[in-house]
Amino acid sequence: MQDRQAIKESVRARIDMVDLVGRYVGLRQQGSNFSGLCPFHEEKSPSFTVSQEKGVFHCFGCKAGGDAFEFIMRIEKLDFPQALEFLANQVGIDIPKPGQKDSPQQQLRQLNEQIATYYERVLASPEGQEAVDYLKNRGLDGKTAKKFRIGFAKAGWQNLISQFTTQQEHLKTLGMAVVNQQGRIYDRFRDRIMFPLCDAQGQVVGFAGRQLHPEEGSPKYVNTPVTPLLQKGTLLYGIDLAGPAARESGQLVLMEGYTDVIAAHQNGIHNVVASMGTALTKTQARLCGRFTQRVILAFDQDTAGQLATLRGIQSLLEEGLEVGMIQLEPGHDPDTYIQENGVEKFAALLKNSRSFFEMYIDMLLKQHDVSGFNGKQQVLNDALPFLKGLSNLHWRSHLVSELSAALDLPNEDIVQMLRAPQKALATSDQSPHNENIGHLNQEEQLFYFLIHGHLSFERATSELEMEDFARYGGLWKLLKGCHQQKGSVQLEHLYEFVDDTWKTELSRLSVSENVHADNITRGVEEVLQHFKANRFEKQIRRLETSIREAESVGDGEQAKVLQQQLLDVQRSKKAQ
Ligand code: CTP
Ligand code: MN
Repeated sequence: MQDRQAIKESVRARIDMVDLVGRYVGLRQQGSNFSGLCPFHEEKSPSFTVSQEKGVFHCFGCKAGGDAFEFIMRIEKLDFPQALEFLANQVGIDIPKPGQKDSPQQQLRQLNEQIATYYERVLASPEGQEAVDYLKNRGLDGKTAKKFRIGFAKAGWQNLISQFTTQQEHLKTLGMAVVNQQGRIYDRFRDRIMFPLCDAQGQVVGFAGRQLHPEEGSPKYVNTPVTPLLQKGTLLYGIDLAGPAARESGQLVLMEGYTDVIAAHQNGIHNVVASMGTALTKTQARLCGRFTQRVILAFDQDTAGQLATLRGIQSLLEEGLEVGMIQLEPGHDPDTYIQENGVEKFAALLKNSRSFFEMYIDMLLKQHDVSGFNGKQQVLNDALPFLKGLSNLHWRSHLVSELSAALDLPNEDIVQMLRAPQKALATSDQSPHNENIGHLNQEEQLFYFLIHGHLSFERATSELEMEDFARYGGLWKLLKGCHQQKGSVQLEHLYEFVDDTWKTELSRLSVSENVHADNITRGVEEVLQHFKANRFEKQIRRLETSIREAESVGDGEQAKVLQQQLLDVQRSKKAQ
């Protein structure tokens, strides 16, 4: 059982004084301290000061002062043991009652704590020298190593076990010891640099070990498995140290690796955590949300675009968090980037982080040729699963408008595509399929008129181009082929040209109700009108972009010419 003094110190270490006092007193930052009106005497101007760093308060008026315990004793009118219990409760530390045995959970926590201390001691011993050299070589200093409680597990099969001989069952429960098929027990971590994994309260709930001597078939990192203290996908490495800095700066930087977080800390950037190499879970995203509104992703360059990370991003967006992103040079992670380029450059990257959506769309645009319509369709096709999985409406419509601007497509077309299942957009020879049977959108209406003979194919081809179709470009192509060979686009001829998915689509079109059924001629004109209007809109947007570009490079001549063109198009659109 831990004694009171030890408990007091662990509680003190986990209390954020500004958080605590801020619940009773309105505080404002003033230099490195915070100040407000003293709760212990009447006053009109603030003489009550709190130091977050030192964890103390002081009133220059009534001279009251002390640490967190003193503050709580005074304000809640408690004696010391009560104040200790009060604060311990808030940071999730159990205080054993006299004569009471620790719960198994408490025993496991204490053992983890002792194991962390043991590994730290080994690192500091002569046996840890090679590991120390390795860490130093990586640029790590002793102060940072202490802060993260970095340790060392010696080579050999039973070092830890022989250290805690009476607690083998607990070692197994904590995942620190493993039993082989012959029933022999051995240490999970051997010849590895040890990183304790802490929860948000700073309690050690598991370990990660990095190999010191790379060895064939042995992973770079070994992590403790799921245990009663460590659920999968709940931890963010460094969260126990990132809180105050995250609150202060209003953002949290999410990295991939342990060593990235550690390097950032050593260089004075404290609002950093690591997702530990996997896609961020909802629980982890919620944890971020407790500290900040904005998360900046600083992923290793080589994985930045991977879907696994996108899934994590979705969790953040679902949580309502704003997501920014920085891009490192290829082959870098934040650790190596800081070592090579200096922390100022890294800080500048963070300062100029771009919105995730912007980066994401850029990435998609690079993967396809979006000058033509098929490329645009492919971009949407790629983005669709992500968009559909996004149930946060704010972000969803945000992404739709960004895509609309980037692809030069009307918002409504993209929304249409969203409604249709993903298959709809796969490739141009796959059939779109609208769940909303019976209601035809403008494109569908056009095909309805064509296959029913209300609109001649000749007129359609004279007025429309492939580019005008957002979803039905594939069908338009098929129609052309059919017309060429059969001289008609009647349904019975078309069927020979299409595969099963399009067949379903065609039969749906032919049995659907048409809103213009009562006035077909007007309907045909309206639909053609709609296509024309769409084309004007696209031209307008394209011109607007070019004008902005010309203006941004100071080309006034060109901007003027474009402005005139814009006026013309706007007039034609009106005259339509
Ligand atoms: N990771 C893991 N198991 C592995 C490899 C990686 O759990 N076998 C996790 C770790 O959390 C690691 C993160 O994924 O920190 C990123 O992996 P990687 O970039 O390979 O390692 P770094 O953190 O850069 O470590 P180092 O700088 O020591 O190579
Ligand atoms: Mn690294």
